[in-house]
Amino acid sequence: KRVGVLMGGWGEEREISLKTGEAVVAALEEQGHTVTRVFAGPGLDRVLRSAEMDMAFLALHGRMGEDGKVQGLLELLELPYTGSGVMASALAMNKPFAKKLFRLHNLPTAPGYRIGRAELPTLQERHGDLGFPCVVKPACGGSSVGLALVNDAETLTSAVAEACRYGGEALVERYVRGREVTVGILGGEVLGSCEISYPREGFDYEAKYKGGARYHLPPRLSPTRLANVEHLALAAWEALGCRGYGRVDLICSDEDNDIVLEVNTLPGLTPMSLLPKIAAQKGITFSQLCERILALATR
Ligand code: DAL
Ligand code: MG
Repeated sequence: KRVGVLMGGWGEEREISLKTGEAVVAALEEQGHTVTRVFAGPGLDRVLRSAEMDMAFLALHGRMGEDGKVQGLLELLELPYTGSGVMASALAMNKPFAKKLFRLHNLPTAPGYRIGRAELPTLQERHGDLGFPCVVKPACGGSSVGLALVNDAETLTSAVAEACRYGGEALVERYVRGREVTVGILGGEVLGSCEISYPREGFDYEAKYKGGARYHLPPRLSPTRLANVEHLALAAWEALGCRGYGRVDLICSDEDNDIVLEVNTLPGLTPMSLLPKIAAQKGITFSQLCERILALATR
């Protein structure tokens, strides 16, 4: 198969995407595929039309890559692609919208609200009794870019304004203290889980990609609790109508309840990323993982 690996992109996660892309290219070549690097950016439609490829492996993350737009373009060009379709990608990328759907499916999420840049003057009112600490993040983002842990009303305004720089909308959620767990999904089934811990509280881009985070495979949870977390993850994945593979982030709170944070429809596949770690623990090598993801590609 001639595979085009789409990488780069427009968004804030461009650097991560390039790392995912290079790792995927190496893995697919190892599997004997003819691989073309396709750098996503303005004019992508023309590039795709002229590229010699039978299908697309999406190594894009975040805005304009993970949010359904590129998937829509590939549909129009009748090229099969990896991962979720247009609708699920768009729903998962929009955190406030995904939260609504989780609630509709009775899946536990942290209390929170969406706020757009134009509504900033009403922030204190919207915040109501949500309290502090709270987490502020861009409504459509990833890799902890623009994310802040906020402890007081004074910092809230600037944190929301900052998060709104990425796409004009923010999500404010009650901060739930607990274990951060992520569940890998492959072929519509739970592949396994990983707990992430940080030397200092909170989570950020630096810790995620520059080292400093610690990984626990499997998570330090009782078997019953882990089963519940994995059940919730799969339910969240299904609630959004996802396909192929992905990764669901959750918090196992110190108060014994598990909450769904978000679904990543194109999770990182860099050497530092979580899904490859989960796969490795299950005896699946990185190139086998990429091969499976490719085999699940549809149109
Ligand atoms: N958004 C990053 C790439 C991840 O979820 O792995
Ligand atoms: Mg994400």
